[in-house]
Amino acid sequence: MNTAILQLNDISMHFPGIKALDGVSFSVRPSEIHALIGENGAGKSTLVKVMTGVYRPTSGTLSLDNHKVEFKSPQDAQKLGIAVIHQETSMFGDLSVAENIFMGHEPRAPFRFFRPISWLRMRRGAVELLDKLGLKTDPRTLVKDLSTAERHLVEIAKALSRKARILIMDEPTSALTIRESEELFELVRRLKAEGVAIVFISHKFEELFEIADSYTVLRDGRFIGEGSMKEATEDQLVRMMVGRSVDQLFPKKESSIGGVAMDAFKLGKTGIFKGVSFQVRHGEILGFFGLIGAGRSEVMQAIIGVDKLDAGELKVEGKPVRFSSPGDAMKKGVVYVPEDRQRQGAVLAMSIADNITLPQIDDLSAFGWLKPAKEFAVAAEAAKRLEVKAAGIEYDVQTLSGGNQQKVVLAKWLASGPRILILDEPTKGIDVATKSAVHAIVSELASQGLAVIMVSSELPEIMGMADRVVVMHEGVVSEIIEREDFKEERIMRAAMGLAGNAGGAA
Ligand SMILES: Nc1ncnc2c1ncn2[C@@H]1O[C@H](COP(=O)(O)OP(=O)(O)OP(=O)(O)O)[C@@H](O)[C@H]1O
Ligand SMILES: [Mg+2]
Repeated sequence: MNTAILQLNDISMHFPGIKALDGVSFSVRPSEIHALIGENGAGKSTLVKVMTGVYRPTSGTLSLDNHKVEFKSPQDAQKLGIAVIHQETSMFGDLSVAENIFMGHEPRAPFRFFRPISWLRMRRGAVELLDKLGLKTDPRTLVKDLSTAERHLVEIAKALSRKARILIMDEPTSALTIRESEELFELVRRLKAEGVAIVFISHKFEELFEIADSYTVLRDGRFIGEGSMKEATEDQLVRMMVGRSVDQLFPKKESSIGGVAMDAFKLGKTGIFKGVSFQVRHGEILGFFGLIGAGRSEVMQAIIGVDKLDAGELKVEGKPVRFSSPGDAMKKGVVYVPEDRQRQGAVLAMSIADNITLPQIDDLSAFGWLKPAKEFAVAAEAAKRLEVKAAGIEYDVQTLSGGNQQKVVLAKWLASGPRILILDEPTKGIDVATKSAVHAIVSELASQGLAVIMVSSELPEIMGMADRVVVMHEGVVSEIIEREDFKEERIMRAAMGLAGNAGGAA
């Protein structure tokens, strides 16, 4: 058995009002993929930040190769061979893909005295790394022009460019779909074969079982247990995480389907998507499935007025509409909860309560000023329904864990009382117990007559929740499948553009 490269002993990390970590010990070995598991707010990302020099722990020690170390900054950890893909991307939008990847360790020209940055080597290096991840983007592209998934892949390439001994990945696949994740896993396995120690965080059990060798479970900042992944069962892990059993998918509630709420006819945006037609009815959950680049989020953003539609007709409750902005859409009862909640969803430097009630300020204020008590009550109720874990709803959103920030954004839109709700990857980064709660709420809302469009890359979520699924491939609808015809293979084939062969393409 290999001995540990990195060891954390009795680590505690306290923030005002919260013990994010409370006496946690943890270690990783060469050629080991170690899963770090726990609910939203359990302390996973905090532990990562301690391991990578972002935080200095309140107490406890770190050792590298059996020698005590103290990281005074993230650079200290980097120099010692620790690379990290953080949950929140930390890239520079106005720099190119290549510059972001090699920031701080740019390849230099091989002259003896004067060693300028070699742009050529940098571009070649970037292309090589991106190739391994299956990304065909030109390395000169500015990061701000990339999609969420592409940005995430660049973040991964950036960590890989450092040839680390220890690679820490905090929810690396949350923005990727199945194919991209597979390519990442191939790469991770190769690194493992080369002796790299890997810490892997994910809320997706299939992934954990596929890739991890061992696991450590945290709950409320405390160490709960560890073991070999081979000997673990899903139920056992969930019980360690949550303290009870949970069904990953809430059973869908029967709902009577009513009239057409939204009717999209041949929607198009030049170069992005075309001929997109579908209807969603009251009481219905319409799934939208596809691989990265299929254009699902782009369709929703054009509908809601974040972007412009170039072609087609959109009707809401039978009346032709074009929304100029999400605010305009909201006034007409159509609400969009974006996928990239960090950038589009929450105001980080504002309290949880203010974030949740933000869309309803008009309703809650009397004569132009807010009624704080009522606002607070509405927010408290919504936060409770989604089990937002916080020291209090008066705290800033930026003090929350990643998953809890996402819950705040969901709570904010659910509390605004929409008639048509568009959810983009609603359970991305959300733990098992809350995922089930989100499904329960969505199902409940649909049964009350709300029309729901749910963009999701998780096939089980689509199969479990949707009444019909619109499958997209490269900007066009490849198939619309009714619930009684749902088969995993058929949906996947349609997503890969092979619908015709599976039979039943319209
Ligand atoms: N900078 C901070 N200030 C105050 N509290 C914080 C800070 N960072 C984290 N916390 C708190 O520490 C706890 C653990 O958060 P952490 O981000 O480690 O959770 P996590 O396990 O990564 O969850 P998730 O699955 O949602 O990403 C949470 O209760 C969070 O609110
Ligand atoms: Mg986290």
